[in-house]
Amino acid sequence: SASSLRPSATLSNNFSETTELVDIDWDNLGFGLQNTDYMYMMKCEKGGAFSKGELKPFGNIELNPAAGVLNYGQGLFEGLKAHRKQDGSILLFRPEENAARMKLGAERMCMPAPTTEQFVQAVKDTVLANKRWVPPPGKGSLYIRPLLLGSGAVLGLAPAPEYTFLIYVSPVGNYFKEGLAPINLIIENDLHRATPGGTGGVKTIGNYAAVLKAQSAAKVKGYSDVLYLDCVHKRYLEEVSSCNIFVVKGNVISTPAIKGTILPGITRKSIIDVARSQGFQVEEKLVSVDELLDADEVFCTGTAVVLTPVGSVTHLGKRVSYGEGTGAVSQKLYTVLTRLQLGLIEDEMNWTVEL
Ligand code: COI
Repeated sequence: SASSLRPSATLSNNFSETTELVDIDWDNLGFGLQNTDYMYMMKCEKGGAFSKGELKPFGNIELNPAAGVLNYGQGLFEGLKAHRKQDGSILLFRPEENAARMKLGAERMCMPAPTTEQFVQAVKDTVLANKRWVPPPGKGSLYIRPLLLGSGAVLGLAPAPEYTFLIYVSPVGNYFKEGLAPINLIIENDLHRATPGGTGGVKTIGNYAAVLKAQSAAKVKGYSDVLYLDCVHKRYLEEVSSCNIFVVKGNVISTPAIKGTILPGITRKSIIDVARSQGFQVEEKLVSVDELLDADEVFCTGTAVVLTPVGSVTHLGKRVSYGEGTGAVSQKLYTVLTRLQLGLIEDEMNWTVEL
């Protein structure tokens, strides 16, 4: 309602004249769900194509109890962000990359996917419909969560007869409770998130349920998150529950190569390009635990975590610290990436899409 809007008088000048925002506490956004005004929905019969997508008021959805997603986990999600620029306009970051990744994941999960054009248009429509929820510049971002669900009913194990593509959004701040301060990771030695030939390389919902047990145990012990190793050798880094990992040694930055068990992060890919443009040598390869423990700096990347420095890693009871505060390399890459996302430096890579 109009009474929940307020002119953003406390914000920077040119911005305050052009935009109205919802009245929420923009200074204390974490990564929690804030319901917004609209969600997007589009359906598709098996063997057909997605069509007739529409915006609806945000709210609960109805599913048959036998829906494929509820019974057999036939579901995928994506994550991307919209940032508000100083002039009030809104920037999406590489939305066609999310569309492409959803398509690859859909193939692996036997689902039809929206076209790149449908995906990107739906994201734009959803963000614009929820414009008053996009945080002011510097206060956070609008997190965009596309879902692809086997929504049709099946009893025997088979692909669902109907699919739903849905997008909802929520304003967010920092992902970890540490804010932008370094996080402490524990290496998981017994539980694994992915196996060769499995689904670790796509963003299927089950990959995230699979890490909850180790994550909960880690949090009880005071760690922020869990770092997974390959399940064959228990020696090579894969990823953290919610993000990819990088290790820095001198001028060389290494990250686990994409080989089917690691989520091909869009922030990961972007940071590789940013680091190369800044003169670093970047290697995508097998990265051993030994290299991790011997690194100068370690950081994580992801849409939700952006670039988060790692302060310590604990492996088999031994804790290795990477020093106080954020390392120089992590800080530099974070700064370049976020300035690009906020439209504060020229987007030579053509990564941002202005709404
Ligand atoms: C993202 O970074 O967008 C993700 O999907 C990770 C999720 C666990 C929050």
